[in-house]
Amino acid sequence: MIMTEDAGVQVVRRATVVGAGTMGRGIAQVLAGAGIEVTLVDVSEAQLQQAQEDITQSLHRLVRRGAAPAGQPAEVLGRIRCTPHLDASIGPDLLVEAVVEDLPAKRAVFQQGASVLPETAILASNTSSISITTLAGAVPGPQRVAGMHFFNPVPVMSLVEIVRGERTSPGTVQTIVALAQRLGKSPVVVNDYPGFVSNRILLPMLNEAMFVLMEGVAGKEAIDEVMRLGMNHPMGPLQLADLIGLDVCLHILEVLHRDLGEDKYRPCPLLRRMVAAGLLGRKSGAGFYAYAGGRASDGTAP
Ligand code: CAA
Repeated sequence: MIMTEDAGVQVVRRATVVGAGTMGRGIAQVLAGAGIEVTLVDVSEAQLQQAQEDITQSLHRLVRRGAAPAGQPAEVLGRIRCTPHLDASIGPDLLVEAVVEDLPAKRAVFQQGASVLPETAILASNTSSISITTLAGAVPGPQRVAGMHFFNPVPVMSLVEIVRGERTSPGTVQTIVALAQRLGKSPVVVNDYPGFVSNRILLPMLNEAMFVLMEGVAGKEAIDEVMRLGMNHPMGPLQLADLIGLDVCLHILEVLHRDLGEDKYRPCPLLRRMVAAGLLGRKSGAGFYAYAGGRASDGTAP
């Protein structure tokens, strides 16, 4: 990426991740893996406990496949402090929010963060669809707000989609680009627009796979196999929807449908029905496939 203006890259040494769900724990892990002291904040102690277990498992998995040295898990875990309090003791250089996809919830995290952090702190959102410009409008210093969109599973996926809001400064973008590179990721900078680039393109494909299933064109295994074997996708669209979470998929499609105003983004009725029934994919134990311990248990999905 070419930057024409040197707007001053800040070095992130101590960071905060708010939200210890699937994405938040992955983000905390990769930040700590790059030597950054991380405060992981979540209102739920149970969620924080689960996050520590998941991060430990993921770190050992990286050691087993030779992607990290044997001593790394203890070192990385030692850099992550878990707390339910978003107060003045949190990492001051950068706050990454990864809480539920809900504008008021994200706005509240940024406002509370801004009230305890220095005004130089960067405020980044891992949102998959909420407008960065709208979020930034709610906090003092909108120039330090940007999207830092990671992909699941965070320790494995190389992309970080960096979203530039209307008032995001070049310095903020450069700081997040430099940070993503330090994490060993590949940053791509895009502008703030519904669904950004990734989900504007991905979600219509997943939605279409659901229509194909609902209309009886083929069964779930056949649909996934066509896309895996014919298009060389690492997993089929229904398997991927289960990995992302069906509630998250529905929410992104609703944003695309509402904000772009085109019926091609209309969420599939089957998706709505499944979310209403609590079938949310891997995290709930069942979606298009059934899962035990995060793995498919009905013998049909990887
Ligand atoms: N932590 C550490 N390592 C992990 C891991 C984790 N959480 N998950 C997987 N791995 C490692 C495994 O150890 C394995 O390593 P080796 O190849 O060296 O053995 C490797 O990753 C592959 O894992 P598996 O063998 O378990 O399974 P796989 O080969 O089927 O790969 C996958 C799994 C990486 C998930 C792959 O199927 C894939 O890339 N799927 C597509 C995922 C994708 O598209 N993600 C983006 C979703 S969209 C999103 O997140 C954003 C949004 O806003 C909706």
